[in-house]
Amino acid sequence: MKKIKVMSIFGTRPEAIKMAPVVKALEAEEAIESIVCVTAQHREMLDQVLELYKIRPDYDLDIMAHGQTLSDITCKVLKGLEGIIHETKPDMILVHGDTTTTFAASLAAFYSHTKVGHVEAGLRSFDLYSPFPEELNRSLTGRLATLHFSPTESNVQNLINEGVSAESIYQVGNTVIDALIEVIRPDYKFEDEALNQIDYANRRVVLLTAHRRENLGEPMRNIFSAVRKVVEDFPDTELIFPMHKNPKVRELAQEYLGDSNRIHLIEPLEYEPFANLMAKSDLILTDSGGIQEEAPALGKPVLVLRKETERPEAVAAGTVLLAGIEEQTIYDMAAKLLGDSVAYDKMANAVNPYGDGKSAKRIADIIKSYFLK
Ligand code: UD1
Ligand code: UDP
Repeated sequence: MKKIKVMSIFGTRPEAIKMAPVVKALEAEEAIESIVCVTAQHREMLDQVLELYKIRPDYDLDIMAHGQTLSDITCKVLKGLEGIIHETKPDMILVHGDTTTTFAASLAAFYSHTKVGHVEAGLRSFDLYSPFPEELNRSLTGRLATLHFSPTESNVQNLINEGVSAESIYQVGNTVIDALIEVIRPDYKFEDEALNQIDYANRRVVLLTAHRRENLGEPMRNIFSAVRKVVEDFPDTELIFPMHKNPKVRELAQEYLGDSNRIHLIEPLEYEPFANLMAKSDLILTDSGGIQEEAPALGKPVLVLRKETERPEAVAAGTVLLAGIEEQTIYDMAAKLLGDSVAYDKMANAVNPYGDGKSAKRIADIIKSYFLK
């Protein structure tokens, strides 16, 4: 029997983390031929994940360049995929989430009349400029997709409200939980001795990540000033910031946070140590999307360094708070959690609105039945 050809296309760290379980689930299906194409919109941060999951891409567009603009990424992905899609003729192209790789790959699929499956479909902030350009990327990808794999009920509802046919939407949970469950271990030891040296029992670890385009500049200065003050005012805290590879983030981080002995500016961690560091942290400050999904599952309070979120479920469940991008508000909210154990305990509940760790298998099953029906 002819196998169903599914080509997964991704390019950045979070897409790779969340697509790795899907690639594994597709590979496990007899009826499916799984092909992986990476755009390498990210390079080192993508390769860390490929290495962890032992994924050897069949195609690698290797497009990353320092100072790359959104147009650069879009054009290179679109042009780079043209020949590959023509050569492989997949039955379906699977994309993930909201990056420019996601949108450009969906458009390339559309131009070649190839069906698109969209993993992590239907999240909406309802503000086209925040997250920028991700809100538009995700919406346009939804417009181009044949199958929509949505994490939560409200994501499904968003698509229905936009007129997407209910039969094409599947609520499957978020594959990030599949990935997370696999790497968390209570007795985890870091390879980096500096992370083992931290006295997790007696110090409070504040974990920071920041990278969003709309936060570059003034908002990021506000964020860094606020966390610096938090660390100064709470002498039992250690701040760990695995810095995104974006030079614009790193320059600001060095300027604002570079000279304090309780602030650790480190390289991006591989997924396994990062997830286990989240599990050992006391408070997480982030503008990341994925971390808003992972941290609640670990029972870690999260302050989201953004004005909005397309992930309202964890806010509703109480482990995530929107802290915005103003220095004083971020400081006040972090100080409250570090200074008031009742407020802290109220937030530190393990809740998981995002799935049961079986999302990837569901996606593979749905694709199979779609083509075999
Ligand atoms: C991209 C995605 C964003 C996602 C984020 C995850 C878009 C528009 N943005 O943003 O949705 O949340 O990835 O991290 O798709 N760099 C390296 N090495 C790497 C990765 C990045 O040096 O491994 C540097 C490069 O100088 C690159 C810059 O970071 O030009 C920015 O990368 P880019 O993919 O354009 O944007 P991100 O901010 O990473
Ligand atoms: N992450 C990682 N190493 C790090 C920081 C983050 O592996 O040093 C993981 C994190 O657990 C999450 C994903 O990367 O799964 C989030 O990526 P990012 O914040 O870059 O993108 P976003 O989720 O905002 O699109």
